Amino acid sequence: MLILGFESSCDETGVALVDASGAGVPRLLGHALHSQIEMHQAYGGVVPELASRDHIRRVLPLTDAVLAQAALPLTAVDTVAYTRGPGLAGALLVGSGVACAMAVALGKPVIGIHHLEGHLLSPFLSADPPEFPFVALLVSGGHSQLMRVDGVGRYGLLGETIDDAAGEAFDKSAKLLGLGYPGGPALARLAEQGDPAVYRFPRPLLHSGDLDFSFAGLKTAVLTQVKRLAHARPEGPATPALAEALSEQAKADVAAGVQAAIVEVLVKKSLAALDATGLSRLVVAGGVGANARLREQLNAACARRQARVHYPELHLCTDNGAMIALAAGMRVQAGLVPLGSDEVPPYAFDVKPRWPLAELAQSPA
Ligand code: KG4
Ligand code: ZN
Repeated sequence: MLILGFESSCDETGVALVDASGAGVPRLLGHALHSQIEMHQAYGGVVPELASRDHIRRVLPLTDAVLAQAALPLTAVDTVAYTRGPGLAGALLVGSGVACAMAVALGKPVIGIHHLEGHLLSPFLSADPPEFPFVALLVSGGHSQLMRVDGVGRYGLLGETIDDAAGEAFDKSAKLLGLGYPGGPALARLAEQGDPAVYRFPRPLLHSGDLDFSFAGLKTAVLTQVKRLAHARPEGPATPALAEALSEQAKADVAAGVQAAIVEVLVKKSLAALDATGLSRLVVAGGVGANARLREQLNAACARRQARVHYPELHLCTDNGAMIALAAGMRVQAGLVPLGSDEVPPYAFDVKPRWPLAELAQSPA
């Protein structure tokens, strides 16, 4: 069972081929990725229309590259999968359009995959794959959630952000420090030169007793601090000139303080989720899962309580096609996709730009 998967929900075009024959974890036969970071950098963030057009440009050459890696013809593909949502509507339409067209041409079924399910299952492609059940900390640019995962398609929401996502907090703070897009990795790099104890930022909802997050207040605190350091009026606007007035050391200290605040909240809430569920296995996925301090502190905290923590391979932490092909393969193996029956969704451009992951539990198709 060869599955070709497409990811095009935001600013990365990803294509991958997995072999989901048998009962073991689907095997990755090839994958290729094109990041649009350079293109969007000039605008300080993702420009949706440019993203869609670039997906169109990249998707077929990437597909050729994947098939060449696997040394297989397109006609060997048994099923085509694509990211159905959530994400940018126009960008999603490129992946779904290409996937459906290819599936029609091949006379094969097509499967729409939830982007976060892809992230959630991506550690199964690592050298140290998890076992069900586990708690998943999903931290990306658009989502921060803790889920209880009992099996493929069996996801229960434990808590989520009530405002900004963790990645968004990294990105917005980075912007206030004049670091450009994408802010998360840039802020993490700068933080390595800084002292996290110089400026203390709020840890919202740390003691709220539930498993929800709130990161919106952090950017306000960072803005206030940056203005103070730049000797700017507190009620003045947030302009790029503010960051320019800061010394490199001050910027690095602010970056380290912000990172420490986000990491502490994510670590404490993850541990609280393990306590609440009685589980001893944690899976971290999504772009923020690439953060070295987060990994370091989760590793230490989990080692202390003899819990296991699993991550995707670093290059599969951010968006990619491998996780989409993998999720499709695992869904097929779990019997959640009635391949070969009339129940398989027809070829349709039915993307879901907004799509809560918890809905999957109710609607496996
Ligand atoms: O999962 P992802 O690639 O895309 C979404 O589905 O959103 O996550 C992207 C997010 C961005 O907010 C980016 O700044 C953040 O992940 N990110 C990081 C790091 N690498 C990526 N944040 C902190 N530290 C990193 N090393
Ligand atoms: Zn993502």
